[in-house]
Formats: sequence, structure tokens, C-alpha cells
Amino acid sequence: MTRRILLGVSGGIAAYKACELTRLLVKAGCSVQVAMSDAATRFVAPLTFQALSGRAVALDLWQPQAADGMDHIALARAADAFVVAPASADLLAKAAQGRGDDLLSNLLLARDALPTLLAPAMNRAMWANPAVQRNVALLRGDGVRLAGPASGEQACGETGEGRLLEPEQLLAEIDALLTPQSLRGRRVLLTAGPTHEPWDEVRFLGNRSSGKMGWALARAAWERGAEVVLVAGPSALAPPHGVRTLEVQTAQQMRDAVFAELQRARVDLFIAAAAVADWRPAAAVSGKLKKQPGAAPPALELALNPDILAEVAALADAPFCVGFAAEAGDLHAQAQAKRMRKGVPLLVGNLGAQAFGRDDNAVVLVDAHGVRELPRASKLELARRIVDEAAARLGALNPTPER
Ligand code: C5P
Repeated sequence: MTRRILLGVSGGIAAYKACELTRLLVKAGCSVQVAMSDAATRFVAPLTFQALSGRAVALDLWQPQAADGMDHIALARAADAFVVAPASADLLAKAAQGRGDDLLSNLLLARDALPTLLAPAMNRAMWANPAVQRNVALLRGDGVRLAGPASGEQACGETGEGRLLEPEQLLAEIDALLTPQSLRGRRVLLTAGPTHEPWDEVRFLGNRSSGKMGWALARAAWERGAEVVLVAGPSALAPPHGVRTLEVQTAQQMRDAVFAELQRARVDLFIAAAAVADWRPAAAVSGKLKKQPGAAPPALELALNPDILAEVAALADAPFCVGFAAEAGDLHAQAQAKRMRKGVPLLVGNLGAQAFGRDDNAVVLVDAHGVRELPRASKLELARRIVDEAAARLGALNPTPER
């Protein structure tokens, strides 16, 4: 179903990022109605948003062409979500106090139960101002979701908290806004990506895992309201938005990071999506192994790596565990055998050669009752279905604890 997004743009230099957000939303299949404050039109021309969204931009309360003179209500009724990016200090103040002196603030007043996301952006000193923080607290209390701001270099040349989130991050926030929070109050720990097992200082044993499936699972869990920790092997992917990411190289480091997290706080759900190297060079060589003219190639002796998933699943107070299996050949039988060997209630099987590095995948879900196929889809779509399965089983086993 097409999602209808009402995108408010208020005055600030970050308004240019809202252009890219509009493009990403349209690309994701959403219909976008843009409403701009007067100040926003000083930064970006309405025509830019009109071209990107394919719709005339709503600009002021007194537009003669408005349907029946009631745009300030009608546009809020015709949307599934209301997003304001960037949300200036003035916009936050108006929204917190219920003022309505232009079209955008009137839309916020008339939004009723529409899921609402505000993405603040302003100079760091403005953001730190107690008056702004008071307004933010009021808005949170009213059930508004706030996204960001991020910390970093600002358009004014200063550095600090106040940057608008990047368009891709805002897209993730909008997905979360529209997703039932089935994992709120839960802690989810994941492993993802490959591991690199050093042979000498420049060579390692690795595999073709890109990390895409594990990153997608981390995002899906975060979208559902969980506190997510991702223990990530080496990958070219940027850390997922909203997720605490711990970067590791080897299987042993991955194991240590997982157990440190398990000790730090109770984990409800553990998803082992990493393609952990089964073996490592028995002794890592310091320096670089040199090729000697005429000499035989060096022997490579291997040692077994710890099986992180099996170890976690065997804990007396183990979290709900989900494993992965990349197989070749009879997927159903091998995945079921692996599920039992690892001692996990739910295992996701795929044909390794058809999964590594791609943006889509086809998987089977294996539990004690049998095997179910999930047809080919994007890794993010599959991740959402897998996390929904895990969340439902977790909910049936133990209701969300009070924290
Ligand atoms: O035995 P195999 O590597 O096929 O098992 C795959 C599953 O076990 C995945 O969930 C993977 O993350 C996990 N695993 C692990 N530690 C290992 C090997 C695999 O956690 N050393």
C-alpha cells in the first residue's frame, strides 16, 4: 500500500536535505505532499519540491486554489504520517505551544492522531538553549517522535549537536514511526558480517559475507523499538542508524564482545547472522611471511574457532536464539539438522552462493514444527519478517519485562 507522507519543511539551511529525503521517499513508493513555512522558501524554492514530489507545495493558509479553503485540515487527514524535517527552533516552539499562525503550524494543530516525527536542526547553542529543550520535552510528552539532531560540523562553521540527520537516516526513522513497536523494552544482540582471521600482518582468512543481511536484521529490530547492539565483522557498510555497533575482526573477538554484552545487561533476543570463520591460522605470524626463491610454500596449520551461537544457546539463561545457515544442496534437511545441532529454536537457512553480497535473498525458516519458505525479497523485507517471527515467539514465551 502506498504510504502517504505529509512532509513539513521549516526554515533552516538543512532544508536542502529535505529535497533528497523527498526523492528517497518517492523512490521507496511513498506519495509525498510537501508543506513549507515562509522561511523555508527563502532557502529552497517550492518548485524544487514540486518537481521532486510531483505535487504542488502547500504554502500558505490563504491560497485561493485550496480545495475548499480547508487545506490546513484536509492535508493532515489525507496522510499516514507527518514528518517535519528540518524542524527549526521556531517550529518546535509553535508545535509545543499549539500556535497556528501559518499553514505548517496549523497542520500540526490539526494532525489529530497522525503519527508525527520532528527532525530538529539548528545551531548547537540554539539546540542547547533551555527554552528549546523545554519545548522538546513537552513535545515528547505529547507523543511526538523526535529524530536527532546529530552531532558534527555545522553549516555555520561550529561543531556540536544540531545537525539534521542524513536523508537515509530520516527514511529509517519514518519506517520506525510507521512500525508497531513490538520489541519496545527488549534488548537485541546480533552478530553480522564475516570474520578475518590473521595469518600474518597483511594476510587473513576470510569469506564473502557482505554483512547486508545482518545489518538489515539490526535495522528491523531497531524499527520495532528494541535497544540493539550489533557485533560487526569487517564490512564496507556504514553502521546502521540507531544501533550501537561494536566492530571486531576475528571470531575470538566476536565471541568476547558477545559475552561482554551478555554480562553487561540482560539480552532478550540473540541473532547470529555472522559468517564466522570455522578455523583460524593456529599461530598468527608477526611481520610478513616472505616468499623465498626456490623454497616450498609455507604450511598453514588451522585451529578450530569457538562456536559462538552454540555457546550462547547452551547458557542456562540463554536469550531467545536465532541462527543462520548458508548451505549448498538439500537446504531443508541440512538446515533442520543444523538447528538441532546448535540447540536453537529458530534457524534461517539459505543457499550461500545465492545470498552473499546480494541485496535480495530467498530463505527458509526452520523450527521444531518444520520448514517454511520465504520467497525471494529484499534483505530488508526478509529481515522484517524474520524479526517479526522472533518477536512473536519471544512475546509468547515471556511478556515484555518492565524496565
Ligand atoms: O556451523 P555453521 O557455521 O554453518 O553455523 C552457522 C550459524 O552459527 C550462524 O548463525 C553463525 O552465525 C553461527 N556460528 C557462530 N560461531 C561459529 C560458527 C557459526 O556463531 N564459529
